Amino acid sequence: MTLDTTHINQQRMPFDDQAELWLFGYGSLIWKAEFPYHERHPAHICGWARRFWQGSHDHRGTPKAPGRVVTLVNEPDAICQGMAYRIDAETLRPLDIREKNGYLREIVTLHFTDGSHTEGLVYIATEDNAAFLGEAPLNAMAEQIASAHGPSGPNRDYLLNLATSLEGLGAEDRHVFELAERVRRCPP
Ligand code: SIN
Repeated sequence: MTLDTTHINQQRMPFDDQAELWLFGYGSLIWKAEFPYHERHPAHICGWARRFWQGSHDHRGTPKAPGRVVTLVNEPDAICQGMAYRIDAETLRPLDIREKNGYLREIVTLHFTDGSHTEGLVYIATEDNAAFLGEAPLNAMAEQIASAHGPSGPNRDYLLNLATSLEGLGAEDRHVFELAERVRRCPP
């Protein structure tokens, strides 16, 4: 996959390195927070649904056998639960590289469990990006996830770690939980 969104992201939404901002994580950014942050709290965003519709050619699959990772799709009544991090803007540099396979910085409203809200940044891979795979039958997605491997490890681990984290947050996500159930039944 040749598209690399690193530079597009830095140009389309530049931040002063010293600035602080909130980042919303809904996929690996929930359970693999290997970046510095000042504080983190469970949060949700409205109007977005988490879907395993983005291809992973660089982390959880390869160009020849891509895996599937999550992105967000517009769904008016949906609520997506995840984790909000208060970070320094310089932390976006490595994150832009981590999310370079089609994800673009967007600004959304983050809602915290105490009822407060704030603007924050989220990485979304829209359907017009080159790595977008889109919807497929759940069993087909589960088989793809169960068999894909990439430089960051098995695609299965990405899904199961996400499902475990969402359970820990008390989040509801039928799409993720049904996929996880199917993948657990697939041979490793
Ligand atoms: C995210 O976690 O917020 C973006 C998608 C991913 O890196 O899994």
